[in-house]
Amino acid sequence: MTKPNLLSGMQPSASSLHLGNYLGALRQWVAMQQTHSAHYVIVDLHAITVAQDPKMLAENIRKTAAQYIAAGLDVDSSTLFIQSHVPAHSELAWILNCIASFGETSRMTQFKDKSQKGGSDNASVGLFTYPILQAADILLYQPKAVPVGEDQRQHLELTRNLAERFNNRYGKVFEMPEAVILKETAKIYDLQNPTAKMSKSAGEPKGIVNLLDEDSVISKKIKSAVTDTDGEIKFEPESKPGVSNLLGIYSAVSDKPISVLVESYQGVGYGQLKQDVADAVIATVSPIREKTNELMNDTSHLDSILEKGAAKARETADKTLRDVQNALGLIPNRNN
Ligand code: TYM
Repeated sequence: MTKPNLLSGMQPSASSLHLGNYLGALRQWVAMQQTHSAHYVIVDLHAITVAQDPKMLAENIRKTAAQYIAAGLDVDSSTLFIQSHVPAHSELAWILNCIASFGETSRMTQFKDKSQKGGSDNASVGLFTYPILQAADILLYQPKAVPVGEDQRQHLELTRNLAERFNNRYGKVFEMPEAVILKETAKIYDLQNPTAKMSKSAGEPKGIVNLLDEDSVISKKIKSAVTDTDGEIKFEPESKPGVSNLLGIYSAVSDKPISVLVESYQGVGYGQLKQDVADAVIATVSPIREKTNELMNDTSHLDSILEKGAAKARETADKTLRDVQNALGLIPNRNN
């Protein structure tokens, strides 16, 4: 029986992935690779929608790939590749740019949030059309499942709308992808500002647990997490966002239900809770850091994994692109 396709990706826009990326997405990727024909992409072209230091970018692309593998992606059964190694992504993005309306693209909240910082006049056009490139990433691989965190829901909706519009106008080419968003870990919050999501582009470093942080740094960040003054350990995200975020993280890394944790922490102080959360997070994260460092010691091995992945990805992506070109009335180049 053939397995259903799956695609997901992350931006290589920081020197480490964080706990939100891991619990919101990467952990699902590892679990789902058994049951799906999975494609995992490092979206370097998305990262350059804001200015990047070239040396850092190259390093971060490899480090992102290394973290995927260190977290448990199997490079033999899954296809792991760099977006810019598969030119069909850019080509389909242009075509979808011509299908997407200015109005629907303007409604994307990520653009509104990100462009607010420097003023939307200064934001790149790439940042504006970012979700359309994301739609191309997805639709090229005809995936049934796209495992992501909550913040990607709107981009998945746009992707589905573009696929449906294309299919209605030109005949069915695209499968309808479904977002796979796990409720419990859909949104991990910043430790210092627990009503905002943990994010590599926002927030101060103290609020973000990086997968590549040293154990002592993780411990310090978790111990200085913002909580509240009533001293009771309860899961109430509205009134107790800090404590609830810690419980959510603890539950995710220990696989114990939140209700069981709350029960066992009756009469116990925040200090003990934080210590236990820190220990549990470190137990999950430090093997990933160590394996990542090992992989980064042999970048030519890493590059060869990524080149093999790109060759496999190109086969699938080029076929979809040819179907799209045919449907549109473009004449496919037989030399490709
Ligand atoms: P990115 O790089 O911001 O995040 C990668 C993944 O991590 C999830 N995530 C979170 N989950 C829970 N809590 C958080 N605090 C948290 N922060 C991030 C994100 O939801 C995401 O699943 N646009 C995408 C990259 C992309 C993509 C794609 C994703 C490009 N093409 C195609 C899926 C399919 C992004 O910026 O993710």
